[in-house]
Amino acid sequence: MRFALSFFFLAKVCLADVASYISMEGPIAKAGVLANIGTKGAKPGIVIASPSTIDPDYLYTWTRDSSLVFKLLIDQYTRRIDTTLLNQITDFITAEGILQGVSNPSGSVGEPKFNVDETAFTGPWGRPQRDGPALRATAMMTFANYLISSGNISYPANTIWPMVKIDLDYVSANWNNTGFDLWEEVDGSSFFTIAVQHRALREGATFATLQGDNTRAATYNTQAANLLCFLQGFWSSSSSALIANINVNNGRGGLDANTILGSIHTFDPAAGPDAITFQPGSDKALLNHYTTVNSFRGSLYTINSHIAAGQAVNIGRYKEDVYYNGNPWYLATFAAAEQLYLAIYQWEQAGQINVTSTSLPFFTQLVSSTTVQNYPSNTPGYRTLISAVFSYADGFLELAKEYTPSSGRLSEQYLKSNGTQTSAVDLTWSYASALTAFFARNGTILGNAWGAKGLTTPCGPGATVSITFLETATTMSGESIYITGSIDALQNWSTSTALPLSSTKYPVWSITLDVPASTTFQYKYIRIRNGVVTWESDPNRSLTSPASGTYTERDTWR
Ligand code: NOJ
Ligand code: NOJ
Repeated sequence: MRFALSFFFLAKVCLADVASYISMEGPIAKAGVLANIGTKGAKPGIVIASPSTIDPDYLYTWTRDSSLVFKLLIDQYTRRIDTTLLNQITDFITAEGILQGVSNPSGSVGEPKFNVDETAFTGPWGRPQRDGPALRATAMMTFANYLISSGNISYPANTIWPMVKIDLDYVSANWNNTGFDLWEEVDGSSFFTIAVQHRALREGATFATLQGDNTRAATYNTQAANLLCFLQGFWSSSSSALIANINVNNGRGGLDANTILGSIHTFDPAAGPDAITFQPGSDKALLNHYTTVNSFRGSLYTINSHIAAGQAVNIGRYKEDVYYNGNPWYLATFAAAEQLYLAIYQWEQAGQINVTSTSLPFFTQLVSSTTVQNYPSNTPGYRTLISAVFSYADGFLELAKEYTPSSGRLSEQYLKSNGTQTSAVDLTWSYASALTAFFARNGTILGNAWGAKGLTTPCGPGATVSITFLETATTMSGESIYITGSIDALQNWSTSTALPLSSTKYPVWSITLDVPASTTFQYKYIRIRNGVVTWESDPNRSLTSPASGTYTERDTWR
């Protein structure tokens, strides 16, 4: 009894702690965001990443940071939480329209950062970064949809749609090419980037239809389906997690706050806790949260080393990070909390928590008696889980509170040794990430529905992937190279209908074929001259097609 009472007392103190942190830090964070727009030489509507000019120099504008920040401000404006933001929002749109037209080293809207006077930054950098155009389109469409619903048709049609088109045409045409991740370090395919691109194209298809552009709507829809399929490939059941970067070999384990950020920034309040889009409350996103958070436990950060399993820890970008020696980041710790508040919203909407074998480890770390079953919302078991997850989420905010100085100012990072702030001061994105987490905790849902509801995987039976076969073969005049193999797409070993390769890059012969996804098949090249067929030597070649995306196979005649 005494234990129960004091536990209750403790729990109440913690709740009050977090609430008082929010009421203290919320206004500071909001002021911190606004202070970084159009200041320090920046043109109106330009978001500076941070006023820091040395160690590190962040007095630039990044499309990613700016768009995430303005998505928050646009959500506040369109929900009438703050009706004073209209001028900042239109300044932002004007400024981004200028940046879209500035010629830059990427040669595209994939250029990640610009000088604050709206000229190109021409120094070396990890470019392009293909998340920025998608995030910007999402922010602008959110505003446009609001205007349209309140009767303003012309600004969305004449100003916003032309800009959104530029960003989404770029995403639609380039998502399948590698680019740098949100941390500007890894050139590959990145979960965060692919997730926000998928979202933007889904909303974009609806928006294009609204603007009477059915051709673009169709293109965006087709590419969104391809993106959704590709997105599935980031899930690794053997790692119990989403792998942050694929199509790279960077020597990292792949656990990264990238994936938690991807989940919260593609939250759709109209969807359920669906795993296909890794919604915050889905079993896969929860297991990913569990595994990713665990990667920051133990001795990695001294300030985490005393924290027991099942309790919140300070979160960084990824455990192998060496930038400023690798520390916790406010925006990552806030994101870990935010995913869980959004998950709770999704369970409340669904009226249940469906604990699967996938999400079980996430729940048993908090409530050890949890089993694989459906917990309907009118049961004590459901209430126990909800309050455990809520307290766990609050734990991340308590850590942020502990390492927020009394001024309330938030830098980019805080030292792993003792929590002292380091790297860029007054990071705009840190403030924005605090605010979105606070809104989520208070049950104020900022996100808008973007079309996640009811999506089913396009990667099932019937899905195909595109494989390019390159065969190096020297040939006699009049002789050509063909391919044939064990599946329909390869003519079932026929030589008379074998598929001809092109010799435009002779001696490399090539052909690109659509073959069923995730399928193992055999094939061989043959050469045909005057109707005479010569087979490659045995054994047959074997290949397993990927689940999604494209693949290039390089062979040499044998
Ligand atoms: C600056 C980038 O902004 C940061 O994300 C990165 O870690 C460092 N450069 C090192 O590449
Ligand atoms: C470095 C971060 O890694 C990157 O995500 C961010 O865009 C820039 N700093 C600017 O804040």
